Amino acid sequence: MVLISKKFNEALNEQIKEELESGYLYLSMSFWLEEQAFHNLANWYYIQAQEEYIHVKKFIDYIVETGGTVELLGLQKPKSDWESVKEVIDAGYAMNFP
Ligand SMILES: [Fe+2]
Repeated sequence: MVLISKKFNEALNEQIKEELESGYLYLSMSFWLEEQAFHNLANWYYIQAQEEYIHVKKFIDYIVETGGTVELLGLQKPKSDWESVKEVIDAGYAMNFP
């Protein structure tokens, strides 16, 4: 039995894409910071990426439990180069407090 509307199902699939793109960007930040030898900060952004994937799992579980369809949409290529560590931190802050 399907308990989720098509419109809401589509909105959740779009939200999954947003969560994955956030995770993708955090990963990109993490890799860049690792290259700059900011290992602890790189690890912190890696953990942020993992948190986004936890959010994704919650949305997927909800769609499945309500009989909907999970459709993974294409992801945008994340930014992969920054001028400074401060720029990364500012970008991360803006993701959480736009
Ligand atoms: Fe999230």
